[in-house]
Amino acid sequence: MRMVDIITKKRDGFSLSPEEIRFFIQGYVSGKIPDYQASALAMAIFFRDMTDSEIAELTRAMVASGDTVDLSAIAGIKVDKHSTGGVGDTTTLVLAPLVAAVGVPVAKMSGRGLGFTGGTIDKLESIPGFSVEMTGEQFITHVNGDHIAVIGQTGDLVPADKKLYALRDVSGSIESIPLIASSIMSKKIAAGADAIVLEVTCGEGAFMKNEEDAVRLADTMVRIGKNVGRKTAAVITDMSQPLGYAIGNALEIKEAIDTLKGHGPSDLEELVFELGSRMVQFAGKAENLDDARGLLHQALEQGHALNKFKQFVENQGGDAGVVDHPERLPQAKYQFELPATDSGFVAGMNADQIGLAAMLLGAGRATKEDTINYATGIVLNKKIGDSVKKGEALLTIHSDSKQIDQVIDKLYQNITISEQARKPQLIHQIIH
Ligand code: URA
Ligand code: CA
Repeated sequence: MRMVDIITKKRDGFSLSPEEIRFFIQGYVSGKIPDYQASALAMAIFFRDMTDSEIAELTRAMVASGDTVDLSAIAGIKVDKHSTGGVGDTTTLVLAPLVAAVGVPVAKMSGRGLGFTGGTIDKLESIPGFSVEMTGEQFITHVNGDHIAVIGQTGDLVPADKKLYALRDVSGSIESIPLIASSIMSKKIAAGADAIVLEVTCGEGAFMKNEEDAVRLADTMVRIGKNVGRKTAAVITDMSQPLGYAIGNALEIKEAIDTLKGHGPSDLEELVFELGSRMVQFAGKAENLDDARGLLHQALEQGHALNKFKQFVENQGGDAGVVDHPERLPQAKYQFELPATDSGFVAGMNADQIGLAAMLLGAGRATKEDTINYATGIVLNKKIGDSVKKGEALLTIHSDSKQIDQVIDKLYQNITISEQARKPQLIHQIIH
């Protein structure tokens, strides 16, 4: 088999055989196939697309390129959740203890954040003492006992994706649906998930700029899941503004705790119940979605989800006292309100740019080597569709520095006020 023949075959619009796909992935990871040939094939895939069976085979070959996590020692159906990226995305912090409280095993391997989307681990590490370092045995013991644990990346999962993603990033083929879908699904499958609930975000601040592309991506991932024997569903959501009110690590922990106490932002709560009820159903803990939703509401209202969060934080060495004393979380030195320059309705809040403003305050990393300031970030007072009076606070900036002119400029540039505006619908559609 020759790589050049595989490239020209795809270039001319033909489907690749499973052997050809495996030859490419194995050869690329082992270094036998050079970057220039891999990038030519990625570009050919970008233009010619792939069939369902090609995409499933590509995903399998990527999973097989490295280590896979064996969760068979954990009782029950392991359901994982993935989001294609949001700003101020506090979902996992609420969802994990909530579904664990109804007995769904949450065995989560998570990553640190880069750029304007924060990582769940960074947020959890803002709790004093909290650690994701543990042995595989401890991880399994916690999940079997308390149904929840979060561990950092272990092993070399999907090396094919690390190499291919970096190559696509510098050769113009990131925006290919079969390549994005296989990249995401291979990582979830390698991490041991039996079933997967996806959130595919769309809007200015998201990977997929419009609903049509988001639906195509979601549909492709759901079909991969089915092809490789994993129950999969996807929720298409609006990411034209940040989720909830808080953006920043400790600020989002506080928002998650408020939500677990039953008084969180309504959009965050809506999304948590939508994703959570599907996780509960996939895990076989409820017959149908209505029953699943009922179980989750009960767990929230009766305080089981909040108790689960405390137990989870304690298990991982953290100070569970932050639940009753949020002032024990890292606090920024200064708080500045950003006053509205006009009266009217908030019509736009560019999620990615507001995420970048939070990053400039230290809440995120511009490069992998940066350290995070857990205390800083932004708390919105207004969201799209809210009315506002001139001089009223649009948001509060939590900063350790008084030099925030650049942040203020960026925020004003990305929040628009007009004479009328409607609240956007958060959940667009469900693909399953
Ligand atoms: N996220 C991923 O993990 N992979 C892609 O290809 C794009 C977004
Ligand atoms: Ca939030």
